[in-house]
Amino acid sequence: DRSVKIAPSILSADFANFGEEIRCVEAEGADWIHVDVMDGHFVPNITFGPATCAAIRPHIKTVMDVHLMIAPVDPYIEAFAEAGADVITAHVEAGAHIHRSLQAIRATGAKAGVALNPGTPAGAVEHLLDIVDLVCVMTVNPGFGGQSFIPLEKKVSQLRAMIGDRPIHIEIDGGVTPLTAPGLIRAGADVLVAGSAVFKGGSVANPAPYGENIRAI
Ligand code: DX5
Ligand code: ZN
Repeated sequence: DRSVKIAPSILSADFANFGEEIRCVEAEGADWIHVDVMDGHFVPNITFGPATCAAIRPHIKTVMDVHLMIAPVDPYIEAFAEAGADVITAHVEAGAHIHRSLQAIRATGAKAGVALNPGTPAGAVEHLLDIVDLVCVMTVNPGFGGQSFIPLEKKVSQLRAMIGDRPIHIEIDGGVTPLTAPGLIRAGADVLVAGSAVFKGGSVANPAPYGENIRAI
């Protein structure tokens, strides 16, 4: 489906070669580049922060989609906006004042996303829909790439109905493969993040499989 955007997650790319990895997947049709920021506190893994985002920004020609798996969020919003994020997504579970965080994201000029962990019901974002541009449905417990898909298509359709005619993306993050993608698209998803499914079988030295992997989703 051409209207569905594919957002490769560089969590599964070569961390010493982000620039080249990004060039390869964009050349093969990636629509957005998904950037996973983890703090070892909100999630049990650590990746990188705003300085790395700023360093990779010039290598991204499409959209820099920054997924913040950090708590607290508010002290860092400005830094990720300055690093050049087009979309900044914060977790609804990351603090008591997600509404304020989303307003702060929008105030920077970036698009605001809200993410839900697998155990969080769709209703948790109902009262945020007038201040967000994207809802990210996690279909794995956040922290690592390559985990198996948690079937939450029902939650996706509930959200699509709740969103109505608002111009809000539904992004899926975790375990997206050629097998899981069709049901998610039917349920109303329009942005699919894929880490291991895009980067598997390839490398900076041999990026040939990336294109096939993207087109298979
Ligand atoms: C998980 C991250 C995802 C991750 C997805 O915490 O938010 O973006 O890279 O990886 P795959 O597609 O391999 O499940
Ligand atoms: Zn992510």
